[in-house]
Amino acid sequence: MKKQGIGIGLLGIGVVNGQVARVLEDKKGLLAESVGCPLVLRRVKVLPQDLSRPVVKEMDPGLFTTSEEEFFMTPEIDIVVEAIGGEHPAFEYLKKVLSAGKHAVTSNKEVIAKHGTELIAEAQKNRVGLLYEASVGGGIPLIAPLQNSLVANRISAIYAIINGTTNYILTRMSKEGMEFSAALKKAQEMGYAEANPRDDIEGIDATNKLAILASLAFQRQVLPGDIHHEGISRMSSHDFRYARELGFAVKLLAIAKQSENSIEVRVHPVFIPEDSFLAKVDGVYNAIQVEGDLVGKVLFFGEGAGAYPTSSAIISDVVTLAKIVVQGTGYEDRRKFNLDRSIKPMSEVETRYYLRISTVDRPGVLAQIARVLGDRKISISSAIQKGTDIQNQTAEIVLMTYPAREAAMQQALQELSSLGVVQEVSNFIRVEA
Ligand code: HSE
Repeated sequence: MKKQGIGIGLLGIGVVNGQVARVLEDKKGLLAESVGCPLVLRRVKVLPQDLSRPVVKEMDPGLFTTSEEEFFMTPEIDIVVEAIGGEHPAFEYLKKVLSAGKHAVTSNKEVIAKHGTELIAEAQKNRVGLLYEASVGGGIPLIAPLQNSLVANRISAIYAIINGTTNYILTRMSKEGMEFSAALKKAQEMGYAEANPRDDIEGIDATNKLAILASLAFQRQVLPGDIHHEGISRMSSHDFRYARELGFAVKLLAIAKQSENSIEVRVHPVFIPEDSFLAKVDGVYNAIQVEGDLVGKVLFFGEGAGAYPTSSAIISDVVTLAKIVVQGTGYEDRRKFNLDRSIKPMSEVETRYYLRISTVDRPGVLAQIARVLGDRKISISSAIQKGTDIQNQTAEIVLMTYPAREAAMQQALQELSSLGVVQEVSNFIRVEA
């Protein structure tokens, strides 16, 4: 038993670690009771500009250092919480913490997605823990359930809304008929988007998070570069109107499936049935549906970002590791991430499709489009023609297809675009039904 308490070090004191510091102070009684001894904040590594933050003013000035060296030399730190975000220097910091035999907790999705396997191996070598509950889904308990509660399952699929910003944008476009750029502006005003909003809207943030979930669920290293990803910037209010008419909602889904020989991982906008649970997840909320052979379908739902939920996840990891420190044992993690199943190329993925095509309006146009699709063995399940512009003699044709291979669809899209009667293929969206 540690008489002086478990030493905590914080890397960064931004929105997330600022709240972590507050919880360590405000809930010290509760946390000490849970761990069996107090959690004591011993050092905080900051940038010079952090020193003006309100939370810093509430704390003992002696805790702060801008020097990396001083932070890493501080004795009596058992657990380091990294919340500086970004790939570098967070990766190097975590590696240093783990190789020094200290436990680490991080909310950093980019580092875990790109370097998780290496960092976990380093942690295993030193018998310390690297926990990252806060890296996906904010406060939603997800990593620990995948690792512990669902351990007896073979996970067959994950369908996840794991980017709050894009879900907020899509919700406003759907409910208020807003166009993409106006909805993005609102999301930025609300402070939801990442520092670089491209990471959200192009699906990069969701890709990092899916890499973490798929690696964990399938015990196979999945890197962000393995994941086909598309963003939501090509969505228009037209697509939402047709989706509604056809009985669908539009979501940016992160999808991971495993079969005997391969793993399918992708992030892109989809049509999903409007009566499905995920279709009803609105605004900045996240939801993750996991399918296991024993448990069936389980759903995790909650706030996927923000200081309070993220601090809830971080503190749970800190407490888990603090209990290990109290026990005086090493942290045992025998997970191995192999490369045994291949990643299915996107060209081999099969889904149904929605196509919105702007054409000239004259006899035989639909027949020409149908022939292009038919030649690629893509079968049309329904067709709508609306929005005829009599003056310009143009029409908007919407097609739904039966399941088709992505490779065939991509070829058909190219051919359609070069048909004389087609002005443009305005959008295509995969359908998960
Ligand atoms: N930009 C992220 C989101 C924040 O919108 O979900 C949480 O990782």
